[in-house]
Amino acid sequence: MGFFDNMRKPQGKLGNIQLKSMNKEHTPVSLWGLKHLNIKPDNIILDIGCGGGINIKRMAENAKKVYGIDYSIESVKLSKEVNKKLIKEGKVEILKGNVKSLPFEDDTFDIITAFETVYFWPDIEKCFAEVKRVLKPGGIFLIGMETNGSDNLIMKFWKHFIDMQTYNDKEITTFLQNNNYNQITVYLRDGKNRKEIIKSNGIEKTVNDDYSHVSFSDRFMQWMTVTARK
Ligand SMILES: C[S@@+](CC[C@H](N)C(=O)[O-])C[C@H]1O[C@@H](n2cnc3c(N)ncnc32)[C@H](O)[C@@H]1O
Repeated sequence: MGFFDNMRKPQGKLGNIQLKSMNKEHTPVSLWGLKHLNIKPDNIILDIGCGGGINIKRMAENAKKVYGIDYSIESVKLSKEVNKKLIKEGKVEILKGNVKSLPFEDDTFDIITAFETVYFWPDIEKCFAEVKRVLKPGGIFLIGMETNGSDNLIMKFWKHFIDMQTYNDKEITTFLQNNNYNQITVYLRDGKNRKEIIKSNGIEKTVNDDYSHVSFSDRFMQWMTVTARK
C-alpha cells in the first residue's frame, strides 16, 4: 500500500502517519463544515469514514454520544486512541464497517457526518440511501468536502494519483433528491474572494466569509458542505 492508496483506505505504519496528518490538515475544512451544524446536548451522532477520529472528539463536546465507523482497521485503531477517555466515559464508540451496509438499526441517529470520504464510496446514491435508513426522521446528514467538484490544479494533482471521484453541488443534490432527502442546503466557500455562497430551495445568497484563520493554501481550495434532512 502506497501513500496515495492510504487516502482511500489507510493501512499499516504509513497509514497511521497519514491519518495523524489528516487530523491536522483537515482541521480548517472540518471546522468550517461543522459550523453549519447545530449540535444539541441530547444528539446521537454517527461519523462515517471517521479516519483519525478527531471530528468525533470535536462533536462529542456538544453531543450525548458520538459513534464513528470506518472500513480501515488503521482508522478504527487511531480513532479509538484519540478518543480513549471519551470511550471510557461511554460518550464515544468506534466500529469497523462499510458505509454500504451500516451495522445500526433504522432511525438511530440525529446527525450523520461524512468528512472527506464520499469520494471513495461505491455507488454513492445507494450509500446515501443507507445513511438515510439509519437517520431518525428529521435527522441531518452533513457531507464535508475540500472540493466543489471543479478541478482546480490541486484537485487535478490528487485525482491523477488517487482512485477517487469528486462531485459538484448539482450531482450531490441529485443523489440526495433521488433518495427523497429534503431541505438540501449547499454551502460553497470561495476562499480567494472570501465569500460563502449558500444555495437552498432554488434561492442563492452570498455572504461574507468570516473564516479567515486558515492557511494560505486553503484560500485556494473551493470547499463545499452540503446538509440535508430525512
Ligand atoms: C481521506 S480519509 C478522511 C478521514 C476523516 N474523515 C477526515 O476528514 O480526516 C477517508 C476515510 O474514509 C474511509 N472510507 C472510505 N471508504 C469507506 C467506506 N466505503 N466505508 C467506510 N469508510 C470508508 C477511509 O478508510 C478513510 O479513513
